[in-house]
Amino acid sequence: MKTVKKAELHVHLEGTTTPALVKKLAANNGAELDPSTFKSDGEFSWSDFWDFLRCYDKAAAAIQSKDDYRAVTYDYLKRCALENTIYVETFSSPDHAADAGISYTDHLEGIAAGIDDARRDFGIEGRIIVTCVRHLGPEKANSVAQKFVEYPHPYVVGFGMGGDEAQYHPKDFAPAFYKAHDAGYKTTNHAGEFGDCQSIRDTLTHLPVSRIGHGVRAIEDPNLVSELAERQIPLELCPGSNIATGLYDGYEQHPFDQLKQAGCVVTLNSDDPPFFATSIGKEYERVAAVNGYDEQIMRQITINSLKSAFCDDALKEKLIAAV
Ligand code: ADE
Ligand code: ZN
Repeated sequence: MKTVKKAELHVHLEGTTTPALVKKLAANNGAELDPSTFKSDGEFSWSDFWDFLRCYDKAAAAIQSKDDYRAVTYDYLKRCALENTIYVETFSSPDHAADAGISYTDHLEGIAAGIDDARRDFGIEGRIIVTCVRHLGPEKANSVAQKFVEYPHPYVVGFGMGGDEAQYHPKDFAPAFYKAHDAGYKTTNHAGEFGDCQSIRDTLTHLPVSRIGHGVRAIEDPNLVSELAERQIPLELCPGSNIATGLYDGYEQHPFDQLKQAGCVVTLNSDDPPFFATSIGKEYERVAAVNGYDEQIMRQITINSLKSAFCDDALKEKLIAAV
């Protein structure tokens, strides 16, 4: 699959930071890292999804300046470009930046500088989806949405939400999502990962989303799969992430192909690659191998992603032509 051009729509920027980069940034910043962040082999240490979210926060705390955000972005886009990825839409979390003392605009400018540098050096294109964190609650989500509309940036193309789906209800975040939507932006919400079909249905009912983050557990309700297929709502599927966090035993058991066969718009993504021992290139290799997909099918998955991207049409058309 090396020659297949790839695109990614669902990856958390703080979650792309490798253990080596986390340690380097912490050392440069004179910051003390919680030793429980790493296992004895140097990889990130976490035991289940909720512990992963805590580990993510500890690792993200090493990112402490605008230039750190530039470095994290550049490092990730470089790794993606080396796997023949041409476009990455990354989630960024102003709440994590704020916790490290970085302003909303500085964090965006850092990421944008990383995108510019990676484009110059590797030809890869990047855009940003600003995300709030569900378990931090609706008030924090509203203030992220407020900053989002107050400080537009040409690389910021959408608004999203990650975090613990078990906390609060999608309708609690309707004001934040509608603020972004009414300002002309597309939105996406994590639903149907550790939440069930109802979480996806509630998202579709209460939030103006154009895509679903994960959505994989729609497979538990054939009527919901049919609805997603009929409405052609793209699913940001992340098989390696779902396997690492224990939702499925392996790629063989992951319903990627079932959702695809049912007519859903499937896209393939890495979520938090160093935490889940994956990369966008590995996801393409593994999903293709397990399902017997040839290069043409994998190219179609890239095109699904590009058609579902939140960037402008001119960029989409240029990228699709390159595939
Ligand atoms: N934040 C970072 N990764 C996440 C995931 N897989 N699900 C929910 N929130 C996240
Ligand atoms: Zn995610």
